[in-house]
Amino acid sequence: MAHQKIRKAVFPAAGMGTRFLPATKATPKEMLCLVDKPLIQYGVEEAVAAGCTEIILISSRGKTTMEDHFDSNPELEASLLAKNKTALLEIARSVSRLAKVTVTRQPEPLGLGHAVLMAKEIVGNEPFAVILPDDIVDADIACMRQMVEAFNETGCSILGSEVVEGDAISAYGCLDCTPLASNPRLLEVKNMVEKPAPGTQPSQNAIIGRYILTPRIFEMIENITPGAGGELQLTDAIKALLQHEKVYGYSYIGKRHDAGDKQGFLRATVELGLKHPKLGSDLRAWLKSQTF
Ligand code: G1P
Repeated sequence: MAHQKIRKAVFPAAGMGTRFLPATKATPKEMLCLVDKPLIQYGVEEAVAAGCTEIILISSRGKTTMEDHFDSNPELEASLLAKNKTALLEIARSVSRLAKVTVTRQPEPLGLGHAVLMAKEIVGNEPFAVILPDDIVDADIACMRQMVEAFNETGCSILGSEVVEGDAISAYGCLDCTPLASNPRLLEVKNMVEKPAPGTQPSQNAIIGRYILTPRIFEMIENITPGAGGELQLTDAIKALLQHEKVYGYSYIGKRHDAGDKQGFLRATVELGLKHPKLGSDLRAWLKSQTF
């Protein structure tokens, strides 16, 4: 059966980024530069690689540089053109041509579920992707593209998942799930819990910041009550969705970097810097030459 195409990707990006202070005092966390582009551009490129054509940014006060980044910049383009800097002109233009970008705001920080609910009218009655820009997934085949394939196979909501060690699971949504014999990357979800207390987790299968959700999720979000941390949790809404529809986890192929705090961001900078086609080999040589 042909399922609806995943055309829209929602980016919850309304947070204050307090873990990155002072960097985020006047700059959105999502605009911090990881190697040579802002954090959010990685997620947007991944959505585009998965076939999405519309990006929905869930923003908040003081974060308009995110939408400016994906808009055209006529003054910059005119200046580069006048100086015949065609390669740079192409870089500047290509960002604004990635996708159609729509912005809506989350007026209060009431949780991830609430942030996704802000996209209800723009998404409408079709399945859609959600990408949390803090999670950078380095993969030969874009993580979201792998998940779209899993959606095309099942027609059900798909949650990006990976195994995390020990008590680290308490920082994530956690899946009670069983791999399918026909495709062990697909995990049939029986239950889920947001940020389980250490020792109470049903498994080590974490939900990462990648989701494909059916539109019924909006009705579920509208009916949940505040959960972990007093927030409207997306995990609780997906758990409610399980009463109506099957939901699958998906063990993606790739390496995730948690760029959501300073240490993770530094490590991601080094690892992605080393893999950068133009900067990587010089950086590697320099690192090797240092004694530290
Ligand atoms: C959010 C979700 C959580 C998920 C995580 C992935 O948590 O609530 O279920 O596992 O993203 O990064 P947060 O990191 O916003 O606390």
